[in-house]
Amino acid sequence: MTSSAFHTPVRFENKIALVTGGARGMGLAAARRLVSEGAHVVITGRDGARLDAAVEELGGSGRVHAIRGDVSRVAEADALAAGIRERFGRLDVVFANAGVASFGPFSEVSEAEFDRVVGINLKGVYFTVQRVLPLLADGGAVVINASWTAHRGLPTGSLYAATKAAVLSLTRTLAADLAPRGIRVNSVSPGYIDTDMYRAAVSSAEGAAVVARVAAGRVGTAEDVADVVAFLASGEASYVNGQDVVVDGGLVAAQVEGGLSGD
Ligand SMILES: NC(=O)c1ccc[n+]([C@@H]2O[C@H](COP(=O)([O-])OP(=O)(O)OC[C@H]3O[C@@H](n4cnc5c(N)ncnc54)[C@H](OP(=O)(O)O)[C@@H]3O)[C@@H](O)[C@H]2O)c1
Repeated sequence: MTSSAFHTPVRFENKIALVTGGARGMGLAAARRLVSEGAHVVITGRDGARLDAAVEELGGSGRVHAIRGDVSRVAEADALAAGIRERFGRLDVVFANAGVASFGPFSEVSEAEFDRVVGINLKGVYFTVQRVLPLLADGGAVVINASWTAHRGLPTGSLYAATKAAVLSLTRTLAADLAPRGIRVNSVSPGYIDTDMYRAAVSSAEGAAVVARVAAGRVGTAEDVADVVAFLASGEASYVNGQDVVVDGGLVAAQVEGGLSGD
């Protein structure tokens, strides 16, 4: 019998959480986890039908609320903050998760693609946190979704990885900036995680080659990441601040294919 059989943690009772991009993938898994531990969760995204489906899926609790919006538009971040203020009056947890993938040769990245990806992955995180900050309670927690690609060079990753490296820097800066209010800011850097984004980027034929690079011997699940997000957002991580947790099954740190034995 495992210890979890004796102890079911309920770490978010009476907490209000925001999860951007919460209708699928890691955002949905994090929302599910937070709700299961007592939180009210506001999920966002651009696709209204997908948001409705997520509310329906998690909705038995009546504790999931959707607000449609595009994180790359600051006016929509303001509308999101206004909606949360009206409904709850405050926030305790922010998971700035919404993001898009973009992979291609450095020489072919267009100005329009640069602006689109920076607009969502950096500007979107930056202004979401800025605009909801007045609602965030002292002692609250922010978790930002970065990526393993910010830790290791990957051909074709120049644009995407740069946006993720930028939010790692933002994590550390905001940890210092918001310290006077007791707000902790940390990030997660997922590896290959089986979501719509992964399935669009990696064909099933390429899947085996991906898995061969991962010490864990498998692709990660959205729940693998949600577990760490929930930890960082909880009081259990009260002495963890300005940190990035790489959730990648060993992809960045442990070489498991093509390595030489010895030195
Ligand atoms: N999957 C991986 O292997 C992997 C690895 C490392 C890091 N990540 C990062 O993890 C995060 C979550 O990705 P995922 O894998 O869960 O992907 P996903 O299933 O494609 O989900 C992405 C989410 O972001 C939302 N989103 C995208 N653009 C948005 C915008 N402009 N405004 C509001 N919401 C927007 C999407 O909602 P709508 O489409 O409805 O707007 C969706 O809910 C991303 O930041 C991604 O970069 C993913």
